Amino acid sequence: MYRVAVIPGDGIGPEVIDGAVRVLKAVTGRVRFEYYEGGVDVFQECGSPIREEDLEEIRRSDAVLFGATTTPFDLPGYRSLILTLRKELGLYANLRIIPDLRTGREIVIVRENSEGLYFGIGAVVNGRAVDVRLITREGAERIARFAVEQAKARGSFITFVHKANVLTGDKFFRRIVREVAGEEGVEVRDAIIDSFTIKLVRNPWEHGVILSENLFGDILSDLATVHAGSIGIVPSGNYGDGIALFEPVHGSAPDIAGKGIANPIGAILSGAMLLDYLGLDGSLIRAAVRGYVVNGELTPDMGGRARTEDVVRGIIGEIEDLL
Ligand code: NAI
Ligand code: MG
Repeated sequence: MYRVAVIPGDGIGPEVIDGAVRVLKAVTGRVRFEYYEGGVDVFQECGSPIREEDLEEIRRSDAVLFGATTTPFDLPGYRSLILTLRKELGLYANLRIIPDLRTGREIVIVRENSEGLYFGIGAVVNGRAVDVRLITREGAERIARFAVEQAKARGSFITFVHKANVLTGDKFFRRIVREVAGEEGVEVRDAIIDSFTIKLVRNPWEHGVILSENLFGDILSDLATVHAGSIGIVPSGNYGDGIALFEPVHGSAPDIAGKGIANPIGAILSGAMLLDYLGLDGSLIRAAVRGYVVNGELTPDMGGRARTEDVVRGIIGEIEDLL
């Protein structure tokens, strides 16, 4: 049995994770699910968004399935649960796959997850605020290796998106990406971040594996979700040297929480990525999702009138037909 730690979170997190776990149970009996709390309530109680003893259990799991949590703007000392988990579990690579469910094409984005402007060195001194944008050789090499593996698995190339014409860190990063990819015979194409945003809007499906620094990757991947039709269907994986964590790209969506209309497909496809990671093959889930969207009613974010429950049941029905 594989042990999967499930952290539903709050807002629509528990609504979509419930669907994802039911779909996973429909395709495999080889996973045991163990649930953990986290977020603001836990922080109020113990000063961290996740309990220390839970974190120890989560580290011993085979993989993590995460929903979403709400981050208040004004809670002193609070760092969001997902950022805390990425740091604590050493998850340096964020893979976001933006699907075109009707044609099967996808946009693949590898975002460096541990350094850049999110490293967390910043200060305000004498009326000046500074944030450090850290790029290390070790960090650049390991994310380049990750992107190379993704490109090889797809028979594709890497588009490295940067601002090396201005930023010293990106000049350094670019050299390392070229070294690592060169050793593996993978082509690297250059793209400068500002003009690349236009290409990502106009020709989104033509960039191979898109690789970028933390903040650039964050912004590019949210922008790219437009091509999926809704942020609600986009899955992601966070990988490190030990464990991996899978989550829909969207947040807790307080505007629709509790209404039963959240799109569960991003969480369900994150479950498919989780199965791939465990070596259990997520392609049955992906086929069921594609089968469902052809004729099935979708949730309001995709212009339909379905409820979360309708979509989950419909996808489980497709799985039963395919099995
Ligand atoms: P969001 O992704 O929660 O919502 C953006 C818009 O997309 C909203 O209109 C929402 O209704 C819609 N949407 C998102 N997911 C959907 C789904 N599955 N089905 C249908 N519609 C969906 O992003 P926002 O509004 O920027 O953040 C809301 C809260 O979520 C904030 O507190 C933020 O900090 C948190 N957040 C948490 C994340 C995480 O835990 N990984 C990631 C991003 C945001
Ligand atoms: Mg984001």
